[in-house]
Amino acid sequence: MKNTNRVMQSYGRCCASPGFFDDFYTTFLASSPAVREKFAQSDMAAQKHLLRAGILNLVLFARGMPDTKLRALGKSHSREGFDIHPQLYDIWLESLLQTIRQHDPELQQQDQLAWTEVLGKGIDIIKSYY
Ligand code: HEM
Repeated sequence: MKNTNRVMQSYGRCCASPGFFDDFYTTFLASSPAVREKFAQSDMAAQKHLLRAGILNLVLFARGMPDTKLRALGKSHSREGFDIHPQLYDIWLESLLQTIRQHDPELQQQDQLAWTEVLGKGIDIIKSYY
């Protein structure tokens, strides 16, 4: 199966699992004071909805969609914007993978590699705007 299809199916199972986005932010915020500092003033309920679409944008880009949305994310997260240092994306991805392992009951080793590869392409674009 193609990696992007593996990821779409796994993401479907995660979105159907109650608490997926709550648990992601619990893990991500617990991962580093630098992350907590960035979200200190944020409405986390709104942030969870935005993330749902954000992950989909990363997957759609890997499936061949133009990078327009990711370039916009790159600009909003750049040093002139939210100022998200490129290293923080490693923590983001590790927190996401940890949450996926908790919420996707059918996850296989190959699916985890697929997630890393598929999201990595889009994350590289976002980081490149820092
Ligand atoms: C805002 C997605 C990584 C911190 C946002 C927004 C989206 C988003 C869709 C809404 C605003 C906008 O559209 O620009 C993503 C995706 C990420 C990612 C898909 C991974 C590739 C990160 C990381 C951090 C971060 C690593 C580091 C802490 C923030 C902050 C905001 C934000 C502080 C503004 C929150 C507010 O409005 O108060 N992100 N983000 N993001 N993101 Fe990210």
